Amino acid sequence: MPLTAAERLIAESLDPARGPACLTCSFQAEDILVLDLARRHQPRIPVLFLDTGYHFAATYAYRDRMAAEWDLNLVNLVSALGVPEQEAQFGILHQSDPGRCCALRKVAPLMTALENYAVWLTGLRREQSPTRANLAALETHRLPSGRTLRKVNPLAEWKWNEVWSCLAVREIPHLPLYDQGYPSIGCEPCTARPLDPANLRSGRWGGMKLECGIHTATQGA
Ligand code: ADX
Ligand code: SF4
Repeated sequence: MPLTAAERLIAESLDPARGPACLTCSFQAEDILVLDLARRHQPRIPVLFLDTGYHFAATYAYRDRMAAEWDLNLVNLVSALGVPEQEAQFGILHQSDPGRCCALRKVAPLMTALENYAVWLTGLRREQSPTRANLAALETHRLPSGRTLRKVNPLAEWKWNEVWSCLAVREIPHLPLYDQGYPSIGCEPCTARPLDPANLRSGRWGGMKLECGIHTATQGA
């Protein structure tokens, strides 16, 4: 298991000389593993959660449980518009225009928040999607302002089984939705069980969309 390489990359990325670091965490298995590795070096690392207002109740409950148990520095990022305001103004965008919904509820709040950091850790893996097949462990992300930051994907090369055996060895609890057959978990209206068992993210957005947009401004380092 490539644990040592991931640990080394996290340790060197969290060197204070690089500037402030954060981790984006959807509380999926990969994120919680990266978080566990990162918190050993920086227990108060900001844990950015994109709270779209559309997550499963189980996700909110697990987020709150882990935040309490691990004493996390949770940063709950919300959109400028609440869900009722967005729905009153634009209708049910996750049905009519999911690209716009993700842009308002995920991309915009995250790009603003990332202005505060020099290093960004994620739980992205190559195996997750054809759109991630060329993912590098170390990338450069360009913000809309033009500023760039070091984006670190320590699990880029990891396989699904490696993530899960590492969680088991470390006795880390997981989001219970996995036990109900969801291998990739985002907002409730846009998450279903996979349409293609070989493609773990094929249940996201009904298979009509592959990325929410937060990772698409990234280039290989
Ligand atoms: S995504 O299209 O929703 O971004 P995925 O669920 O596979 O894809 O998550 C990939 C990575 O994006 C996660 O490891 C995490 O870093 C970040 N991410 C996705 N959703 C959120 C969220 N709601 N809050 C914080 N980070 C998120
Ligand atoms: Fe909206 Fe769905 Fe994107 Fe969540 S995943 S922000 S509900 S379109």
